[in-house]
Amino acid sequence: MKNYSLNELREMYLKFFESKNHLRAKSFPLVPQNDNSLLLINAGMAPLKPYFTGQDEPPRRRMTTCQKCIRTGDIENVGKTARHGTFFEMLGNFSFGDYFKEDAIKWAWEFVTEHLELPVERLFVTVYQDDEEAAEIWHKQVGLPKEKIFYMGKEDNFWEAGIDGPCGPCSEIYFDRGEEFGCGEPGCTVGCDCDRYMEFWNLVFTQFERHEDGTYTPLDQKNIDTGMGLERLAAMMQGVGSIFDVDTIKAIRDHVCQIAGVEYGKEHKKDVSIRVITDHIRSVTFMAADGVLPSNEGRGYVMRRLLRRAVRHGKLLGIEGLFLQDLVKTVVENSKHEYTELEDKYEYLVKLLTVEEKNFNETIDRGLNILKKHMEEMKANGETVLNGKACFTLSDTYGFPIDLTREILEEQGFSADEEGYTKEMEIQRETARTARGGSKYMGADETIFNQMDAAMHTTFVGYDQLEIETTLEIIANDDALLDVASSGDEIYVVVSETPFYAEMGGQAGDKGMIETATGKLEVSDTTKVVGGKYAHHAKVVEGSVEKGQKATFKVDSSIRMDVARNHSATHLLQKALRDVVGTHIEQAGSNVNKDRLRFDFTHFESLTHEQIAQVEALVNEKILEGLVIETKEMPIDEARKLGATALFGEKYGNTVRVVDMSGYSIELCGGTHLQNTAAIGTFKIISEAGVAAGVRRIEAVTGRGAIHYYQSMEENLNEITALVKAKKADVVKRVEAMASELKETHKENEKLKAEIAQSKAGALTEQVEEIAGIKVLVSQVDGLGMNDLKNMGDSLKDQLQNGVVVLLSHAEGKVNLVAMATNSAVEKGAHCGQIISQTAAAVGGKGGGRPNMAQAGGKDANNITEAISVAKDAIIKQLQA
Ligand code: ALA
Repeated sequence: MKNYSLNELREMYLKFFESKNHLRAKSFPLVPQNDNSLLLINAGMAPLKPYFTGQDEPPRRRMTTCQKCIRTGDIENVGKTARHGTFFEMLGNFSFGDYFKEDAIKWAWEFVTEHLELPVERLFVTVYQDDEEAAEIWHKQVGLPKEKIFYMGKEDNFWEAGIDGPCGPCSEIYFDRGEEFGCGEPGCTVGCDCDRYMEFWNLVFTQFERHEDGTYTPLDQKNIDTGMGLERLAAMMQGVGSIFDVDTIKAIRDHVCQIAGVEYGKEHKKDVSIRVITDHIRSVTFMAADGVLPSNEGRGYVMRRLLRRAVRHGKLLGIEGLFLQDLVKTVVENSKHEYTELEDKYEYLVKLLTVEEKNFNETIDRGLNILKKHMEEMKANGETVLNGKACFTLSDTYGFPIDLTREILEEQGFSADEEGYTKEMEIQRETARTARGGSKYMGADETIFNQMDAAMHTTFVGYDQLEIETTLEIIANDDALLDVASSGDEIYVVVSETPFYAEMGGQAGDKGMIETATGKLEVSDTTKVVGGKYAHHAKVVEGSVEKGQKATFKVDSSIRMDVARNHSATHLLQKALRDVVGTHIEQAGSNVNKDRLRFDFTHFESLTHEQIAQVEALVNEKILEGLVIETKEMPIDEARKLGATALFGEKYGNTVRVVDMSGYSIELCGGTHLQNTAAIGTFKIISEAGVAAGVRRIEAVTGRGAIHYYQSMEENLNEITALVKAKKADVVKRVEAMASELKETHKENEKLKAEIAQSKAGALTEQVEEIAGIKVLVSQVDGLGMNDLKNMGDSLKDQLQNGVVVLLSHAEGKVNLVAMATNSAVEKGAHCGQIISQTAAAVGGKGGGRPNMAQAGGKDANNITEAISVAKDAIIKQLQA
């Protein structure tokens, strides 16, 4: 058999189906678009579902892809065996109502036998038990003898992706890897669990749609969906035992071994770790490149879990320090040709994964220590199950994931009390629920909005109208639906058409007025509530209003404009950031109101002053250019073609709203915008800071907000000029001069302090006594801190030349003590350590030190006089001994 590299095989496959008139498309991102049924793309067909169901028109009726996939159902087994992996590439050819079984089967056979040149005698196929049609094609048209065609049940040969979606019977192609891979059991044949007969290509005849309730309906069109695991195919073609021996994956495996200084295939436990790291680093690298950020939920959690598992197995292999960044390089090297995003985002990938690795190292160290203690205790008490509370505290308080606790416990022959753990979790959930239930919080399970007519929805008509006439259909307060509301009442108003924008996509809700013939309402906010309704949060400020009355809804246009300025400027900001800082920048959050805009984005270090200045200048440039802003509705595909920026993981319908700023910035957005960037007036960044690992935040102001900002800056400046008594133009010079003057004064001050200490010391020398030929000075000098006291002691000791100095100082409510002795005095028996410990005791303190120098602190300033005689006595005793 010919030995092809993984990258060659991918190319051969895609070329083959191109030659059969298929449109070759790039892999779709791992993050499903417009599909909430999946966390991550898990098959080649997953991103193409709307083409199968006929909901969307495909660009061509035949397509072929090599799709990045992640499956984490078997995560616990990854590493333990060489068969499991989480990341893989799936080759596929698809027909959307075009060719069906016959061509799918014939082309598969052609590719396998003529291009891969697999020996026919080693090939077998399976078909679904009731699918005679497929069996016939294999037998009559392909010429496969009947004994090579196996019938299988629904479990094996009916393919469906999860609880809903396109599905159908399938036919699979198997390859006999040879006896050496087999179990040797009698009856070992196609379908056996061992490694001998390997299923490598699944041809699905997608003709049904499965619904959530488990029923099936035939699809209008008959489709083909095939899937062949590229890694598995490569293992087969390269004649190697597992996917971990395939060229591109082995390169990563070897790199892991090199970093860890271990050899693969020597010790089972080490092999497990090597495989875990090899597989998981691929998953997390690809996920990161598709915009997934590690977090505690959804796909972010999947990523975090994979990354953490890899890091922990690194530790099991004895790897010290950060190592993911090295491996990312190998992953990128081996796949960048097909997946150019890996190379484009290389630096971002390294940074993102390293930040997360660092954080986890800290968590792990802390958690492992706690877990170790638990295990020691359990051993001592002869227990084998760690109680649920301990497991829960580890995860809830210390961020140490339960699966890790479980794995580590199991490795050491213990287990976790799963039931207890779940119970603890429920208790916490319950507590949270109760805490919430008591308030009128909008997210509480039941609110007044649930009592409103479910059939009523609100349509937003405020993109171009700010005022409309309508009827007050529903009015309510937090507790009840109302017929009338009067002056002072705070209520919710719901209508079926409104010009008020409800808070959404980070844009604040509109404010304004509602007026009827009998009363006036002030709207302070508009929000979306259950059942597609908009709630106007309003207060009756005049008269009263009644359900069913005609009313004028009037949005406060000046506030709306302020918000629009900030929103349109946010789009310019995003584009400018990508232009100046890099295309790895993605929106991580956005919040605009009338006063300011806030934009969170993926990036790892603070922006430099230059970058901030450049971004600000670029946005202002685009404001000055007066770019026309157009908003258009169009099919999502058309928007993609235009290169419109969308949010990762955001669900978009088939028709999207595109905000186009003369081609400079094109974004999918449902917000309200200006008609020309010139109306933004001016743009000023007021802060830039980090908000989470890998996420930065910019706050900025525009229009009126910017003018206020500049005005208050000017007021500050005015105050400063007044304070420093300078003209505006001279203020910097003046402040500089003052700062250097202050510095000089400070120096001078220090010098004077030293001089005073010197002269105090001079006066002190008059108190010197002589004991046994040694000069002794014990004195009280108040107001000196320990440092000053020591300096003084040093200088006195130098002056005495042959003596002992003990100084006590009452300063800031404490007593500081130092003792110093010259070498000659030490030789005569002086020991400062002992002197000071006795003296300190007299003022309620402790201390000690060397023979030539010691210090201490005490509390009882009242006893200083006594302490002085204690010191003198001690010295006399030492010198006269
Ligand atoms: N969608 C089919 C699979 O994933 C081809 O096996």
